[in-house]
Amino acid sequence: MREYRLRVNGTIRSIRTGSDRIVLSVLREEWRLTGAKYGCGEGQCGACTILLGSEPVPACQLTIGEVGKRELTTIEGLAGKDGLHPVQRAFAELGAFQCGFCTPAMILGTVALLRVHPHPTRAQIEGALDGHLCRCCGYSRIVRSIERAAEQLGAGPGEGR
Ligand code: FES
Ligand code: FES
Repeated sequence: MREYRLRVNGTIRSIRTGSDRIVLSVLREEWRLTGAKYGCGEGQCGACTILLGSEPVPACQLTIGEVGKRELTTIEGLAGKDGLHPVQRAFAELGAFQCGFCTPAMILGTVALLRVHPHPTRAQIEGALDGHLCRCCGYSRIVRSIERAAEQLGAGPGEGR
């Protein structure tokens, strides 16, 4: 056991725990950041995806000891002072969810995709969605939302967020 000080959504949070404690458990149970969901617990469904630095990672497979100095971003930290992030807005405008269980992870995965590929091809979008399961099967709206977010990010001053 030791104290870990992690940067989460722009603020420093502390936790006294073992190095092998799973980050998803800390986010949800200690810090009440419940946007990242527990689905399979095996790195297969993507429901727990957060950003580690700029990389989308399954928080159910990440230990506190592996985080190091990299920032954790959860869906709770995505909106800015001006309101929803463009990816959040696109998902909401196009109704790209039903139950919403997969949505925070899908949105964070999209943010990561658009940072690397600001104008993604359909194949790149489908590749990014590969690790995300939606049990409501709303994939076509999700793909259209990603395309709309890419257009909006490319069109305005928010590019690169
Ligand atoms: S809960 Fe982490 S990938 Fe499924
Ligand atoms: S909207 Fe229900 S799991 Fe994707």
